Amino acid sequence: MSVTITFVAVDGRTEIVEAAPGSRLLEVAQNAGQPLEGTCEGQMACSTCHVIVDPADFVRLPRASEEEDDLLDLAAHVTRTSRLACQILLDEALGSLTVRMPAGARDMQGR
Ligand code: FES
Repeated sequence: MSVTITFVAVDGRTEIVEAAPGSRLLEVAQNAGQPLEGTCEGQMACSTCHVIVDPADFVRLPRASEEEDDLLDLAAHVTRTSRLACQILLDEALGSLTVRMPAGARDMQGR
């Protein structure tokens, strides 16, 4: 069983991908061509992997660590359901997950 991920772009377009259980959301997003830089490659030293989780899914995820919350404080366009994609482990039990790219994510694609 895979985990169905829906990525919602800044302009509202969606892309749905199937992810292998146990993978990290950042990896899956990058493989799907989503505009997440992930500069520190999951070392929790940037915040360029910031995504906004659908509120219904947010409550189903394990809580963010204090370190993650601290980093999110520094990210732009943070919301109450913001998370770092490198810290989201796609557990099979999750089934599906919807995340939005934060405003400004488009800039990283070098339009
Ligand atoms: Fe740097 Fe997630 S990739 S904090």
